[in-house]
Amino acid sequence: MTAMDDWANDLTKLWDFCWQKLGRGAADAKSPLHRPVLATVGLGGGAEARTLVLRGASPSARTLELHTDTASTKVSELRATPLASLLFWDPKSDLQLRARVHVQIDEDTDGLWSRLSDGARSNYGGTPPTGAPILSPDAYDKTPQPDRLTRLVCHLQSLDVVHLGPEHRRALYARDADFTGQWLAP
Ligand SMILES: Cc1cc2nc3c(=O)[nH]c(=O)nc-3n(C[C@H](O)[C@H](O)[C@H](O)COP(=O)(O)O)c2cc1C
Repeated sequence: MTAMDDWANDLTKLWDFCWQKLGRGAADAKSPLHRPVLATVGLGGGAEARTLVLRGASPSARTLELHTDTASTKVSELRATPLASLLFWDPKSDLQLRARVHVQIDEDTDGLWSRLSDGARSNYGGTPPTGAPILSPDAYDKTPQPDRLTRLVCHLQSLDVVHLGPEHRRALYARDADFTGQWLAP
């Protein structure tokens, strides 16, 4: 263990370090935590995973925020099973974060739409919706639709942290233990 990753030997420091990284992940497009993988329970029962952009991280509310299209399959999956996982990997600090979350689907996004660029707006809406079969590669229309923008507010249930430093460390911060933290065998 070097002095540089001293944060990995103390449960409180590690928790704070993770939230610092998540905050940077939401604010900085260059951060490796900016594009986590969201895993849901598929409608057929298996796991489904895809990349999303992290839009917000609140250490006080213990929430992580994502934006998506209401018509996407993941929203149907989350309506059926709101429990999901968000997976992050930060190569610089050798840190894996597995956030198990309860996802609240918030379709009240009027104020949010007005703050989006035209480019960002084109991610929400379109016919047919993402995942629908089409007859040729460009047989879709991308007209933005404000009512298709959805905020996924991910309420943290537990954070499983793995640090692959010179000495490996693993810790679990669980909601039912008020996120105090528990070391796990790495
Ligand atoms: C780098 C990257 C960032 C992405 N960001 C988002 C995002 O913020 N929101 C989103 O809904 N889809 C995003 N996507 C697309 C999703 O990965 C996925 O293809 C799409 O949302 C359809 O997923 P679904 O059919 O599982 O609902 C992104 C894809 C990539 C490659």
